[in-house]
Amino acid sequence: MENFTLYNPTKLHFGKNTINNLGSTIAKYGNRVLLVYGRNSIKENGIYNEVMVQLKNIGAEIFEYSGIRPNPIVEDVDFAARLGRNNQVDVILAVGGGSVIDSAKIISISIPVSHSAWDFYSGLKKPVSSVPLIAVLTLAATGTEMNPFAVLQNQKSRQKLGWGHPLCFPKDSFLDPQYTFSVPQNYTAYGIADLIAHCLEAYFGKGDTTLSDRIAISIIKEAMFYGPMLLTDLKNYEYREKIMYAATLGLNGITLAGKSSGDWGVHNAGHILSLLFDTPHGASLSIVYPAWINILHEKLGEKLEHLGMELFGEKNLDKISNCFKYFFKSIGCPTSLSEIGITEDSKHQIFETMVMNKVSGANYSLTETDLRNLIDKMQ
Ligand code: NZQ
Ligand code: ZN
Repeated sequence: MENFTLYNPTKLHFGKNTINNLGSTIAKYGNRVLLVYGRNSIKENGIYNEVMVQLKNIGAEIFEYSGIRPNPIVEDVDFAARLGRNNQVDVILAVGGGSVIDSAKIISISIPVSHSAWDFYSGLKKPVSSVPLIAVLTLAATGTEMNPFAVLQNQKSRQKLGWGHPLCFPKDSFLDPQYTFSVPQNYTAYGIADLIAHCLEAYFGKGDTTLSDRIAISIIKEAMFYGPMLLTDLKNYEYREKIMYAATLGLNGITLAGKSSGDWGVHNAGHILSLLFDTPHGASLSIVYPAWINILHEKLGEKLEHLGMELFGEKNLDKISNCFKYFFKSIGCPTSLSEIGITEDSKHQIFETMVMNKVSGANYSLTETDLRNLIDKMQ
């Protein structure tokens, strides 16, 4: 095992109606609240009203920033940070999926400074302090509710980058599986693909930790067992809670203990599809993962064989990528570029953008030839 520090200060409030404690939790930090959310979903499903009741109960003064989009952009973060700074907010409340919570994390470290949030991503600036962040999660997928990472997109520099800092952990995260009832079939499936992908990135990461690997495999098995049942019964509380908890554990640090890092090559490649074609994050991963396993199966060797046996009872290395493909297909995720309308004509653009963004993995590096093969296998 590699030496490691496991640090996770987020307090998780999991289960039915846990939102009843939201008001009192926010009040600990003050009453000037920057409320950050996406587009319409929280108004359509009633979560907005429930949050408002909590805020009104504590007499909060509310400043709203809405419109955070999936695959969030730095401009929104900069605008919202200005709003928070000008109004001297005490606390940020993020209500939404990964895009909203990720944006709110960067808003929380941008309010105390005056430069663009992108300076953190380009390494020009380091965060010095943060406004406390409380999260209400409405989509199970990313694990952002209990980790310090945030992924942002910069259209001008043509980058979508993941970055993290301990100041970005939410103080408290509220996870009521009922709040995910309204997530449509496609995004529910993308969330399942994403949480599985996080476990795979950890499993194929740097460092030999049998226990972390067993935890990662258990989370994948949970998702592969309950995910398909959930997709036929979207308002089933039990299935929603299983997937929500699995997604949180999938990227809260526990699967990476004893490793110096995850691999993240597939995520890096997937981010290029989101950047170029606005592909939903989980859908980018269900396309890239089988292709990545396919081109690297010999290098992945015993590690892949073990995984194939555990998940599919398959030890034939060149068949395991197809097992993943069939699983992702079975839950309604795309497994090829053509399925999401990306034609062969875009191959060169994808390749160039991958090279420009230095797409590779921490454990399994990808050469330009690998990237070309990967794109071919994704067609
Ligand atoms: O815009 P709104 O109205 O919020 O609608 C969203 C959005 O259209 C909708 N939605 C969310 N909750 C809903 C709902 N619709 C109905 N009912 C609900 N309860 O779902 C759509 C997608 O939301 P989004 O937040 O984009 O999805 P997700 O949670 O998958 O987040 C994706 C983002 O997280 C990043 C991704 O790169 C991507 O930008 N990631 C963050 C990570 C992290 N911080 O650790 C790790 C991940 O690997 C990932 O990269
Ligand atoms: Zn992910």
